[in-house]
Amino acid sequence: MAADDLAKARSDFADRNPESRKYFSEARQYLPGGHTRTVLTHAPFPLVFASGEGSTLTDLDGHTYIDMLGDYTAGLLGHSEHRVIDAVTAVLKTNASVGGIHPAESRLAKLMCERFALDRVRFTNSGTEANLMAITTAMQATGRKRIMVFHGGYHGGILYFASGAAPWNAPYEFVVAPYNDETETIKLITENAESLAAVVIEPMLGSGGCVPTSAEFAKSVFNAAKKVGAVVIADEVMTSRHGAHGMFDLLGVKADITTFGKYIGGGFSFGAFGGRADLLDQFDTSPEANRDRTISHAGTFNNNISSMTAGCVVLGEVFTADVAIDHMARGDDFRKSVAAVLSKHDLPLSVSGFGSMMSLHALAHAPESPLDVAKRDDKLQELVFFGLLERGVYIAARGMMNLSLPLADDQLAKVLDALDDTARSLTRN
Ligand SMILES: Cc1ncc(COP(=O)(O)O)c(C=O)c1O
Repeated sequence: MAADDLAKARSDFADRNPESRKYFSEARQYLPGGHTRTVLTHAPFPLVFASGEGSTLTDLDGHTYIDMLGDYTAGLLGHSEHRVIDAVTAVLKTNASVGGIHPAESRLAKLMCERFALDRVRFTNSGTEANLMAITTAMQATGRKRIMVFHGGYHGGILYFASGAAPWNAPYEFVVAPYNDETETIKLITENAESLAAVVIEPMLGSGGCVPTSAEFAKSVFNAAKKVGAVVIADEVMTSRHGAHGMFDLLGVKADITTFGKYIGGGFSFGAFGGRADLLDQFDTSPEANRDRTISHAGTFNNNISSMTAGCVVLGEVFTADVAIDHMARGDDFRKSVAAVLSKHDLPLSVSGFGSMMSLHALAHAPESPLDVAKRDDKLQELVFFGLLERGVYIAARGMMNLSLPLADDQLAKVLDALDDTARSLTRN
């Protein structure tokens, strides 16, 4: 690779996408940076999409891409899932913003409780909010303040731990533990035994580079946290798509509270937190509950009819437990094929992940911790991204790929060819 390869890749990208560039120069006047979702940005500017269908996306310049990003897991259903579109269209003709209770709310709650083995569940508008509310639930139940999280973890824009706690995080007392380091994590749990309200953990660092944890680490952390009376909060906002009941279930552990989001809303804003009745019933306002104190959790759009209706179709009809099991296996197979393609080339490239979520890394070996992810060759990483875009494959700039349901086998084969061709061209240069 020559020193100016990256400059050329960026300028070729800009030349290929004049309409996206034009959009950004105008949008910057009104939106800081021209956007309102930081994760989507990259140099020189991101693509602007005009439409999507099935598992493809078309940008303002008329290029069509195979959508391998799947909206960071929220786009599991692809872009034209008619069962969701039809159900939401029908319900919006009778009710838009209800300002009252409606049946889809408890229907979705039942589906979620049955699918994910929750006693009770409450809805929010995002995964971030679900995590904030789960932390509130734990703090109120325990009367404690300290929250354990993990290096490389991401639980929302203000619950961000890529390299320690971000300065703009919500003002909790965080204890940041090293992910997949059992000895150090147990030591920190023991040291904070008296003050720890909750341990918040992802079964696989999603934003942190698709680094899965092991059943051993999960068991040991869950047991240690429960032993000191801390509430275990499993962040399955991304990973509840794995297996019939989510990823921690596959690892053989059960959290006290689990948080959800992304695909369950079928394209609409969604978040939820649910779990043990004694914790969730702190929100029970019914006279029979006879509580001294209830936690108030109003929220204009918590039960919004579009998300509730879409969620019922997603879990009840489209992404049933059987479909989820098959989709995970399909993802595992595809990830193995990606690894086989990468191994043909003399470049430090690897793939990590679990089921239908994965990430490409400019690293010789797939990372086992966030410390490994930090050692990526940033230039090679970006060249792979631009190489795939040039060949009609849309992934996250950071390398993430998530399989959506409508992706066809021939599309996946094209993605493997594009990756092969990209790696070949980078080896030649
Ligand atoms: C594991 C995890 N938790 C929480 C969130 C936050 O969800 P949202 O973007 O819906 O607020 C995300 C988003 O990417 C996530 O990956």
